[in-house]
Amino acid sequence: MTGIPSTLSPCRPWYRPACATLVVLAGAAGATPLDTDVPFVTSPPAVTAAMLSMARVGPRDYVIDLGSGDGRIVILAAKQYGARGLGVEIDPRLVAESRANAAKAGVTSRATFRDQDLFKTDLTRATVITMYLLPDVNLLLRPRLLALKPGTRIVSHDWDLGDWAPDEEVTIPVPEKTLGATKSSRVMRWTVPAKVEGVWCSKAHRGTVLSLRQHYQRIEGTLGQTAFEGTLDGTQVRSSIGAGRLEGDRLVFVPEGAAQGIWRKQGCGTPTA
Ligand SMILES: C[S@@+](CC[C@H](N)C(=O)[O-])C[C@H]1O[C@@H](n2cnc3c(N)ncnc32)[C@H](O)[C@@H]1O
Repeated sequence: MTGIPSTLSPCRPWYRPACATLVVLAGAAGATPLDTDVPFVTSPPAVTAAMLSMARVGPRDYVIDLGSGDGRIVILAAKQYGARGLGVEIDPRLVAESRANAAKAGVTSRATFRDQDLFKTDLTRATVITMYLLPDVNLLLRPRLLALKPGTRIVSHDWDLGDWAPDEEVTIPVPEKTLGATKSSRVMRWTVPAKVEGVWCSKAHRGTVLSLRQHYQRIEGTLGQTAFEGTLDGTQVRSSIGAGRLEGDRLVFVPEGAAQGIWRKQGCGTPTA
């Protein structure tokens, strides 16, 4: 068994078609699914390339593939993009295969593989998370993904993160896909947003309150009496009335046509910044 809650069996009714698809694909690929949350099915080369390209992986990145299968994503990230990475995989045979594949590719110093439950893995070092799991496994992971460093990119093959809409999505033709009408795969990217919800004040805008509500990367707010909408890209704020960035506990925000303000949550009765 894995560390997944026992109430979550791999083929619960509402995503049984998805799970069945993966199980059948696993069978077709000659794999024997273990008692894991997600069966072993590989992302095809066009999809792995799209995932890493969409995450803009580079030499400074640390990529964690959750359920790394034969290691292909972490190995490609190391070989083609010079990144470091970790694959966590519950099936020890696949971990051994991944290590052998990394050795063949000459990337053992940058691509590490662990026989480990993804739900028991520390994700905090990641700058990029990749996954090809199942819909409600993604949903169980979502709170931990949202808690990662703002700016961390998450890319997923085929399955989304529920009502956390992706920042970017493409459909990749996969002619070799044996099931499904579309012969294609979805690749989606999210960037972990900073937490900015609250009431902010600035000495430079004395008497004006900046109030923000946040739903994942979408924000709605008021600056004084002016309502506005915007988005977060990690720590960067873009809105219909100006732009800014979160720096630690201060929000540097420049309303259009006004002076830059250093906004803080503390002391909105008596602005301190
Ligand atoms: C659909 S495959 C994806 C493989 C690879 N990431 C790719 O895209 O080619 C999912 C993998 O997750 C592994 N897995 C399932 N449950 C897991 C768990 N709780 N912890 C770690 N790996 C798990 C499976 O053994 C399988 O290899």
